[in-house]
Amino acid sequence: MTSIATPSQDIEFATRDRISTLQLERLQWSLLHAYTNVPHYRKAFDDAGVHPSDLKDLSDLAKFPFTAKADLRANYPFGMFAVPQEKVSRIHASSGTTGRPTVVGYTANDISNWADLIARSLRAGGVKPSDKVHVAYGYGLFTGGLGAHYGAERLGCTVIPMSGGMTDRQIQLIEDFEPDAIMVTPSYMLTIVDAMIKKGIDPSKTSLRTGVFGAEPWTEEMRTELEKQLNMDAVDIYGLSEVMGPGVAMECVDTKDGLHIWEDHFYPEIIDPVTGDVLPDGEEGELVFTSLTKEAMPIIRYRTRDLTRLLPGTARSVRRMQKVTGRTDDMIILRGVNLFPTQIEELILTISALAPQFQCILDRPGRMDELTVRVEARPDASATDHPRSAAELQKLVKNRIGVSVKVDVVAPGALERSLGKARRLIDNRSAL
Ligand code: DLL
Repeated sequence: MTSIATPSQDIEFATRDRISTLQLERLQWSLLHAYTNVPHYRKAFDDAGVHPSDLKDLSDLAKFPFTAKADLRANYPFGMFAVPQEKVSRIHASSGTTGRPTVVGYTANDISNWADLIARSLRAGGVKPSDKVHVAYGYGLFTGGLGAHYGAERLGCTVIPMSGGMTDRQIQLIEDFEPDAIMVTPSYMLTIVDAMIKKGIDPSKTSLRTGVFGAEPWTEEMRTELEKQLNMDAVDIYGLSEVMGPGVAMECVDTKDGLHIWEDHFYPEIIDPVTGDVLPDGEEGELVFTSLTKEAMPIIRYRTRDLTRLLPGTARSVRRMQKVTGRTDDMIILRGVNLFPTQIEELILTISALAPQFQCILDRPGRMDELTVRVEARPDASATDHPRSAAELQKLVKNRIGVSVKVDVVAPGALERSLGKARRLIDNRSAL
């Protein structure tokens, strides 16, 4: 195995031609590497009647089979690895709450590329080498904490490896260490903000200037909320463990217009989630990634289940992906209408008496599904206004999304707080 990865920052501003040439060369390498070293890919390519040498042009990738989470599970734990175990320097894994965990591996080169890409992401997000960075993504098997950690170190930052949870401690360290940037899920940031307010600390007066928020979907309205509450720039970071971890795509602080995909390491496609057909740039569908440089675990046409669209580059020449609307698994189909928790978040945040703490609860009391939006009131809203806010949200959902839902406005603090990824959708139908 010879790596063809050469970390380079100038690719961020390269011409499209140069990017495509590099992608083709790396894609040919990655397909061959997967085919030669991973029995799963050899069989999948053979079954589909394709060989890595059939890739003459980037568009030929469409001939190759997809990889799904189920393939990783079927090859648990190390069956998707393309290098002998002694070349694997690190392993991460998903929590496995919905089955066997999915396991991913990295060589020393992969870890180094990952640190480079997070450093590149942080720089794009407005973080500077001398900054203090408070990492509140969980450390451990989750890729958030360690991924962020090595990247911030690579950029030359001072890292505060706080990990997730222990909210009082988070606040104390933010107060005492005065970090410039925080890396955390947006929902856990809200939990920290709430706890600060309870302690009489004004969140807008902390030292934090930049929030690098990701690992779950969040909306433009949530950006406005976080930027106002914390008096900071809130930027979006995207990634998934199967493809690498955080730092696959990143929003630039100067434009805040979606996330630039680091296309020199990951080749994106958008497909129709039902037919699997590749869709042209600009159309919304399921995001699919192929790794271009990963050694330990190359991933070919991985179906992320995340819904977005590809857009041309702005602050960088690589393409952007729009903020993720949601996952195909989180899509609620209510009496024939598709809706996502992010659409509910958007509407909640237009009502001044409602807080961005909410849950969507799906039930089937009779033969029809029912959706209840349980949302907290803002602490300064009077309890007598709750019915009015509920009616207002109900009307907005009906007018904008076209479906009737129940709205239950609850007291501030009544809903369970997120310590990492928020659980926005509670589906009680399967329990029936
Ligand atoms: O969540 C990696 C990560 C850590 C990304 C920290 C950003 C920051 P997984 O646990 O494998 O990895 O979950 C990946 O989370 O497929 C998306 O559904 C969701 N996701 C991640 N980032 C974003 C984002 C990490 N910025 C899954 N916006 C992905 C929306 C996101 N969804």
